[in-house]
Amino acid sequence: MELVFATANPNKAKEIQNLIPDNIKIRSLSDIHCAEEIPETQATIEGNASQKAFYVHKKYQVNCFADDTGLEIEALDGRPGVLSARYAGDAKDANANMNKVLAELSGVENRKARFKTVISLVIDNKEVLFEGIVNGRILHNKIGEKGFGYDPIFVPDGYDKTFAELSIEEKNLVSHRAIAVNKLITYLKQTNPL
Ligand code: IMP
Repeated sequence: MELVFATANPNKAKEIQNLIPDNIKIRSLSDIHCAEEIPETQATIEGNASQKAFYVHKKYQVNCFADDTGLEIEALDGRPGVLSARYAGDAKDANANMNKVLAELSGVENRKARFKTVISLVIDNKEVLFEGIVNGRILHNKIGEKGFGYDPIFVPDGYDKTFAELSIEEKNLVSHRAIAVNKLITYLKQTNPL
């Protein structure tokens, strides 16, 4: 049985194959010769995950799932949220994105934030959504070299280190993406929908 992971990032597809039951083969977008940019024009993280999964399902006639993630900061009314990748512009520059967040939070006491991942699974035109959330806080400066994106400024609740100071294994124990992926895997194992 095959399931396409609608992501342009081949590492994400490989990573998840190791976690999924053997009877389900994860295929990437390049495996199905999809090279175009998949539209992500919705106003919410859920909307974008859904849009990507249905786009690939309809155009390529395959069962698939897609994910979308954002950092939601309470004092910024949930921004950068769905705009996380391009918060400081189309260059998708992680440093510039963090600098913008830190500037906007300058002098702000409420540092509460959360990462949210939504996975949309579409099988035979029916959708199931899986959500992963990790709560934490935004520091006043960047610490750590590991990870990517906003990791150097985010400390998950219960920790005194940023995501960028944790190993990938440590991050996977608590991360938004790991929580959503685990829910997807449990669903696939329990319902065997393919
Ligand atoms: P995507 O939907 O997984 O491509 O994530 C969108 C954007 O959210 C990325 O470009 C990053 O800026 C940010 N992001 C997603 N996941 C993480 C994470 O685990 N740590 C830090 N930033 C993240």
